[in-house]
Amino acid sequence: MTEPFDAVSVIRTKRDAGRIPDDQVDWVIDAYTRGAVADEQMSALAMAILLNGMEPDELSRWTNAMIASGDRLDLSGVARPTTDKHSTGGVGDKITLPLAPLVASLGAAVPQLSGRGLGHTGGTLDKLESIPGWRANVSNADFIRQLNEIGAVVCAAGDGLAPADKKLYALRDVTGTVEAIPLIASSIMSKKIAEGASALVLDVKVGTGAFMKTRADARELAETMVALGTAAGTHTVALLTDMNTPLGLSAGNALEVAEAVQVLAGGGPSDIIELTVALALEMLAGVGITDVDPAEALRDGRAMDTWRRMIAAQGGEPDAALPRAAEQHIVTAPSSGVLTRLDAYAVGVAAWRLGAGRARKEDPVSPGAGVVLLAKPGDTVRQGQPLLELHADDPGRFDRALQALEGGYDIDGSDVAGSDIAGSDIDGSDVDGGTAFQPSPLVLDRVTA
Ligand code: URA
Repeated sequence: MTEPFDAVSVIRTKRDAGRIPDDQVDWVIDAYTRGAVADEQMSALAMAILLNGMEPDELSRWTNAMIASGDRLDLSGVARPTTDKHSTGGVGDKITLPLAPLVASLGAAVPQLSGRGLGHTGGTLDKLESIPGWRANVSNADFIRQLNEIGAVVCAAGDGLAPADKKLYALRDVTGTVEAIPLIASSIMSKKIAEGASALVLDVKVGTGAFMKTRADARELAETMVALGTAAGTHTVALLTDMNTPLGLSAGNALEVAEAVQVLAGGGPSDIIELTVALALEMLAGVGITDVDPAEALRDGRAMDTWRRMIAAQGGEPDAALPRAAEQHIVTAPSSGVLTRLDAYAVGVAAWRLGAGRARKEDPVSPGAGVVLLAKPGDTVRQGQPLLELHADDPGRFDRALQALEGGYDIDGSDVAGSDIAGSDIDGSDVDGGTAFQPSPLVLDRVTA
C-alpha cells in the first residue's frame, strides 16, 4: 500500500513546534498501529511532543485517532445510566473495590476495564485476583448481563480496545516519554472514551507516590483530560487527591482486598471512606443521581451485598480466606514522637520489592505480599513500637524492602502531644450534587469543564 504521508515530515513538523494537520494525525496513529510507521519514528515523534506539546484541538484529534484504532464498547443494552472512575495510580489505592459496588448499589452501572500493576503502583486486577476463584476475563455478553443484573463489572480490557495505545505506551516506557502530559492524557482518555460510559470521574493523584509530583502538573493533566472527555460528549470531572502518604493502612494485593472488605462492612480507615464517598457522589451526580447517601449505603450493607454478587458473578468466593504471605517482618519506631511523614513512594517500592508488584508485565505477583501500616502521619509513636509490618513469601526479599523504606518516614520528637490522622466528614453532605466542593487535606481540588 502506498502511504499518503511520510513519518519524517510529521516528525519535523512537531520537532519545529508546529501543529500536525488533522489528516496526518489520523494517518500517523493508524500507520503506527499497522506497523507502517516504525518504532524509532514514533519514538522521535513522542519525544517531540514531550518537548513541544500539542494544541488542544490537535490533541483531541490524536485521542480520537487512538480510539478509532480499535473497538468501542457498545453499552446500549445496559438499562441503567453508566458511570466510571479512573485513577492515575497511587500506593494503597484500593478505592475501586468498594467504589464500584457502592455506586451500583445506588442505581448506576459501573463498567470498569482495569489494568495490572507495573512498577510501584498496584493494579486493580492483581488485587481482585487474590480472591480465590475470581476471573478477570469476561465475555461481552456476560459483561452486559452483569451490568444489568448487578450493576458493576471490574474486568480486563480486551486486546481490541485502543490498540494504538498499547503499542505507544510500551514504546514510551522505554524511551523516556511517559511523562508528556498530552501523551498521558490521550492514553488514559482514549481507553476511557472507548469504554463508552456516559460519565467519568478522574482521580488525579499528586505527590511522591504519583506520576504527577506537583499540584500544577496534576492540575494541567486534569484540565487536559476533562477537556478531552467533554469534547467527546462524556460528562467528565476530575478530583486532585493527595498521594504523598499511602491510602489506608495497606499496600499489597490480598492485604488491600481485606481492607476494602472492612470498608464495605461499614468500618475501615477514614481516608478510604472519605475518598470512596467523594468519588461515588461525583460518579452518581454525573448521571443525574443526586438524592442518595453513599456513606449510609456503606454502613447499612447495601454496597457489601452488591460486592458479594459482583465477586461471585466472576467465579470468586467472597467468603474464602485470602492468601497470607508466609513470612512477616516488623519495622519498629527508632525514636518517640509524632510520625510527621510516611512516604507513599517508599512504601510503594517496598511493597513491590516484597513481591506485590512486578518489574516486567509477564511476571507473576505474590498475592499475600505487601506492607501494613501500623501508624499514619499525625499519630504519636513510642520508641520500639511497631510501625510497619512487611509481608513476603520469600524472607530474602525483606532486606531490599527495608532499603526502600530508609529515609521514608520522619518522627518529630519535639511535639509528643500529637494528634490522630486528620479525620474527615464522611457523610458527603458538603458535596451537593457534585457542585458545592469543599477541599480537604486528601481531596485537594475539583476540576470541571
Ligand atoms: N496510565 C495510562 O493508561 N497511560 C499513561 O500514559 C499513564 C498512565
